[in-house]
Amino acid sequence: MPTTDVFKKDLLIGKIAFVTGGGSGICKGMTEALLRHGAKAFIIGRSQDRLDKAAEELKTKTGGQIAGTAADVRDPEQVEKAVGKAIELFGKIDILVNGAAGNFLASFENLSYRAFRTVIEIDLLGTFNVTKACFPHLKKSRGCVINVSATHHYSDSISKPMLIFLLSFDQIRSRSLAVELGPLGIRVNVIAPGPIADTEGMHRLLPAADTERLIQGSPLQTLGKIQDIEYATVFLTSDAARNISGHILVVDGASWLRQPDLLPYPECVLEPKKFVGNKLNVKL
Ligand code: COA
Repeated sequence: MPTTDVFKKDLLIGKIAFVTGGGSGICKGMTEALLRHGAKAFIIGRSQDRLDKAAEELKTKTGGQIAGTAADVRDPEQVEKAVGKAIELFGKIDILVNGAAGNFLASFENLSYRAFRTVIEIDLLGTFNVTKACFPHLKKSRGCVINVSATHHYSDSISKPMLIFLLSFDQIRSRSLAVELGPLGIRVNVIAPGPIADTEGMHRLLPAADTERLIQGSPLQTLGKIQDIEYATVFLTSDAARNISGHILVVDGASWLRQPDLLPYPECVLEPKKFVGNKLNVKL
């Protein structure tokens, strides 16, 4: 069911969205949802080719206006330039989605200095860089920010033995910003998707998970779909959420409350040698 069947399709008319990581996966879905409800979108990612393909696909599917440029969120100069292009094209930014992420599982033993730095640079500094560059425009538009997170780090019993480099830092990057920017009319929220079927995040962060077991163990007996995140995005960016800021919206059928029972002990800890290098050498 397209999201237009649930929300009014002119909900976001006149809004301009800037979406990092919008060329693929969950963030492409979020971009599609914004377009379907009348917003225009500017997407960034590392590969121009991927962005062009995504823009073409979403234009065809939604009839919306979308453009994108390659920029690495780790590089403030590239980010500033990309924001400049978005402003040149659309004149303003009302919605920022910080979706770009670089994540993988690694045991402490096999995690190199550079690997750790890489993830910090993408997930933490990248979010800062993009928010900072968009800030003057969000201030003008009294806009909103959505930071895309995850649920892995909500469970102590998992995150302790498993060195997960999903550095979402929900509270640091979102709640304090919500407090500081609230008086300027800027709302800052987090969407924390649980396992979402057929996504890079699922392959990367739950490589050994048994899908059936995930579903059976989920209180709502579901496995997430990208569409679930689309609905959350439309809601949080719309006026329906005008009084909602500093909130972490977990979209996972309440699975995170039961995670300790559900997930197998991670292979990156049991068999760290399989996780050396750039690829997860495991059967998915
Ligand atoms: N396990 C252990 N180390 C890893 C790794 C893995 N799975 N993947 C990358 N690294 C290490 C590399 O070995 C390298 O360190 P080294 O030089 O000491 O060997 C360092 O991380 C940087 O890797 P590199 O591939 O050069 O960086 P990059 O900037 O091109 O890649 C990543 C960025 C690392 C995030 C890459 O995994 C990526 O492109 N991911 C796609 C997007 C993504 O992760 N989405 C998240 C969905 S949840």
